[in-house]
Amino acid sequence: MIKICGTGSALPARTVTNDDLSKIMDTSDEWISSRTGIRARHLAVEETTTGMSVAAAKQALEESGLQAEKLDLIIAATLSPDHVLPTLACEVQAAIGATHAVAFDLHAACSGFLFSLNTAAAYMQSGIYKNALIIGAETLSKMMDWNDRGTCVLFGDGAGAAVLCNLTDDGTDGGLKSFVQYSDGARGGVLACGNRPVNHPFANHEAENQYVTMDGQAVYKFAVSTVPKIVTEAVEKAHLTLDDIDHFVLHQANQRIIESVAKRLKQPMEKFPMNLQGCGNISAASVPILLDSLNKNGMIKTNERIVLAGFGAGLTWGAAVIQW
Ligand code: COA
Repeated sequence: MIKICGTGSALPARTVTNDDLSKIMDTSDEWISSRTGIRARHLAVEETTTGMSVAAAKQALEESGLQAEKLDLIIAATLSPDHVLPTLACEVQAAIGATHAVAFDLHAACSGFLFSLNTAAAYMQSGIYKNALIIGAETLSKMMDWNDRGTCVLFGDGAGAAVLCNLTDDGTDGGLKSFVQYSDGARGGVLACGNRPVNHPFANHEAENQYVTMDGQAVYKFAVSTVPKIVTEAVEKAHLTLDDIDHFVLHQANQRIIESVAKRLKQPMEKFPMNLQGCGNISAASVPILLDSLNKNGMIKTNERIVLAGFGAGLTWGAAVIQW
């Protein structure tokens, strides 16, 4: 049985409200909050993707009671690591002293934490590894074009982590029940970000836009049509019904997307916790940060069933059902 034994999270100290943004660009709290529900986000000033990941990882380890040396696997989901090399996961491994873990990054944008959970679970179910640390961490503020008001106002920075343990002998009924995940690269252009150009003396490549670009309405339609399907599929795969689920912890992109999903699933909004009002969209970090805040605030009770779901660039989307 693969169980989440500890969670953690870290957010930058600096909160930037919609009103703060309206002083530096042509926008308003009314425009942003009415379309997205977002009122503020945390933006890194001194914080780094690695620093926030390490803080989140230490909290998750402490709650789990596991020593860092007992970790077999570290997967870090990020599209905004501090460095191209070494990877975020290796930097975290060194910082926490997880000397026996294999560590690597996984890049699946806003589905990254879900894909990391599912990847770690596959290793653990096959018996290859017993204990894993999974992280979702972003400093998205450096990926934004701060002149593109249609995109930059949506995103924030932060990190979340979870320790997974394979408790084969604990005799209870909890843990990961099912997961599903999908990709559609053919639609990737609707949410994109260029990289550095080939620049050796024998080539003459144009630089791509190195900031995030987005067709907001296309992404919106993608989200509201796919998320209800994967949630339903994951729940059915776990031999449960939607009414059996206590909490739907969805990627925190937009309140209207979450309300639309709740409506399509015919589930009350009370089952859909949100932190996007104060955090914005933190891509791979949004699900683990929300999960950690629910856990720390005692909002999840033993044996409650939770759907986690992520969706975003790639396009990618995935969901999992866990019993706490
Ligand atoms: N402040 C004020 N006006 C803004 C603005 C801002 N921050 N950003 C864009 N606008 C303007 C546009 O220029 C446009 O003006 P125009 O009609 O004069 O051209 C107008 O507002 C409407 O823009 P539009 O794109 O039609 O708005 P929308 O209702 O589709 O909402 C999003 C835009 C981005 C909020 C919405 O499409 C969305 O949430 N999409 C999903 C995005 C998402 O979740 N991405 C991450 C997924 S992981």
